[in-house]
Amino acid sequence: MDKFVVQGGARLEGSIAVGGAKNSALPVMAACLLTSEPVLLRRIPRVRDIRTMQRLLVDIGARAEWSRGHLHVQAAEILSPEAPYELVKTMRASSLVLGPLVARAGRARVSLPGGCAIGARPINLHVAGLEQLGARIRQIHGYVEAEAPNGLRGAGIRFDRVTVTGTEDLIMAAVLAAGETVLENAAREPEVADLCQLLVRMGARIEGAGTPTIRIQGVERLHGAEHTIIPDRIEAGTFLIAGAITGGDLLVAGCDPEHLSALVAKLQQAGAEVLPEGPDALRVRTSARLRSADVETQEYPGFATDLQAQYMALMTQAEGIAIITETIFENRFMHALEMARMGANIRLEGRQAIVAGPRELTGAGVIASDLRASASLVLAALVARGETVIDRVYHIDRGYEKIEEKLAGVGARIRRVE
Ligand code: EPU
Repeated sequence: MDKFVVQGGARLEGSIAVGGAKNSALPVMAACLLTSEPVLLRRIPRVRDIRTMQRLLVDIGARAEWSRGHLHVQAAEILSPEAPYELVKTMRASSLVLGPLVARAGRARVSLPGGCAIGARPINLHVAGLEQLGARIRQIHGYVEAEAPNGLRGAGIRFDRVTVTGTEDLIMAAVLAAGETVLENAAREPEVADLCQLLVRMGARIEGAGTPTIRIQGVERLHGAEHTIIPDRIEAGTFLIAGAITGGDLLVAGCDPEHLSALVAKLQQAGAEVLPEGPDALRVRTSARLRSADVETQEYPGFATDLQAQYMALMTQAEGIAIITETIFENRFMHALEMARMGANIRLEGRQAIVAGPRELTGAGVIASDLRASASLVLAALVARGETVIDRVYHIDRGYEKIEEKLAGVGARIRRVE
């Protein structure tokens, strides 16, 4: 298993490039199952979760190949409408094929994901929504089996709580359902809107993407299309925090500043200078000491839970007490205990982490528990005195493309060892 070895203390300077959004690429790849025609996808990041989704599409019967940096997917036929436990247990987002498979093939068999390092994360809302669209559902032997031999029917569906992949799954089911579907309390994340943009290019009729109410008029079939996915706002946010925490001067290039406004507001409140440089870059600089600023995670456009761990690393270096409240997942504080081993002063009380800073961090051996937790440990290591060894970096490889090379390119002393 690979590890990262980081020598702390380097200021990050220069320009760092953001790749395509993993959480946009995953539903967009699943959407390719909705047509027999070819779909060309640009800016898909080369990360492990994408390889897992590619494998899943191929197992289902699609072709999914890289050519000149783009991903070409064609699901001419659905041979096996299944997502087996072996894949779902390594990546929960595999459940994104449920909606498209029922819509296109009239049936699907998808493993239930089971527990996760950050919370229970059930998919009951995906399943309930599909039932409302007329699918017959059975849950047996750890699998969801869905059938709609005569196709799905549009319906009014109100989500009990906001779910990102749940919204995406049901949009993909509804685009081929007969009649109108109205999704209420839908997720407003930019990744949902990006998926809808591809679907519309494929011939779907969707209104209200990016708002809580999404209206879909079902069509009989979808056709091939080309699409460039949005930049990864979480990778961009991680780099902004890397610039701020090291007291550096970093240009985060190829991002969408609008998608980062909640983080940018917090960074400014904490005393970092963050300014746009053109339409698709942000420059972060910190000269004065950082100040604490409380954060509560929220659905988009609020502060992303996927940046909470990284922000906690930043708050260990800020003057004062910061209260970080996690409202999306019930157990997303594993990184706090690892940061405490590096010297951070963090107290956990239910859904809140109380961070008292600034504290000098010292290098230590730490273990990454999930994707964003690993990123936060890299950030903590960048400012720690001495050497930090981060174990289980396969978590970070799920969602960050060559993060060690990108950070080393702007001055970080980080290397991967086998
Ligand atoms: N929930 C339910 N029932 C459901 C679905 C969700 O109770 O049927 C609950 C979850 O347990 C959670 C909350 O609703 O407490 C929100 O979960 P959501 O469904 O929105 O999360 P997700 O779709 O599984 C996506 C991202 C996550 C990100 C969350 C929240 C993808 C592939 N994953 O997950 O990304 O944290 O939205 O923004 O889009 C990551 O990239 O590291 C990551 C975990």
